[in-house]
Amino acid sequence: METKDALRQRRSVKVFDPNRQVTDEQLAELFELTTLAPSAWNFQHYQFIVVRDPEYKKRLREAAMGQEKVEQASVTIVVCGDLHAYKRARRVAEEFADKGFYGPNGKEKVEAQARLMYDTYAKNPQKAREEALRSASLAAMSLMVAAQDMGLATCPMIGFDPEKVRKVVKMPGHLFPAMLISLGYEGDFDLPRCARLPLNEVVQIDRYGKAFNPES
Ligand SMILES: Cc1cc2nc3c(=O)[nH]c(=O)nc-3n(C[C@H](O)[C@H](O)[C@H](O)COP(=O)(O)O)c2cc1C
Repeated sequence: METKDALRQRRSVKVFDPNRQVTDEQLAELFELTTLAPSAWNFQHYQFIVVRDPEYKKRLREAAMGQEKVEQASVTIVVCGDLHAYKRARRVAEEFADKGFYGPNGKEKVEAQARLMYDTYAKNPQKAREEALRSASLAAMSLMVAAQDMGLATCPMIGFDPEKVRKVVKMPGHLFPAMLISLGYEGDFDLPRCARLPLNEVVQIDRYGKAFNPES
């Protein structure tokens, strides 16, 4: 499938087929594609908790305002942001140096670069959280587009109680739930897509106030 088609056809599917399951092989391919998403300094500030046990799905549904798709879909993925991703700073800096991103004699820069990356977030928890939410969200979008390409349906969700979700999946304190994504096969869902704002309401050229009006 063309990426353009995947973007055009992706929907937030509200009804899933409860009888069709996603396999481990499909999940492996999906997460291999998902983790190719960009992240600041390649820290990969995310974890994915795939909830597929019926009992866990039931409890997750209760934590997600009773949304039926959480239980109906083959799996519901808790996309978590990782507040401690910066602790991988040295590993990341070493790979950057090994792969030539720091130029010649890059090894000599590892210490300073690792310290810079580490301190940026260790000293600013709000920045660490924003970065984690950004990276987790970019990965979530990649996951949904990849799923579309694989013939699977998704629905992202923010309708949940974060502390209840944390309890259900036993999430440690350095993670937080960024969103849930139900994943599976589309069921009897035929609602049309809601309209998008016209481009001249969301795209500005050069400065705010100069709306984009493409010549057609
Ligand atoms: C961050 C986020 C949270 C959302 N939360 C929910 C949700 O809790 N339940 C739900 O049914 N849909 C949820 N949606 C889906 C949106 O309603 C949907 O993306 C929007 O209406 C556009 O429809 P489309 O994705 O089918 O084009 C969410 C979408 C996003 C991006």
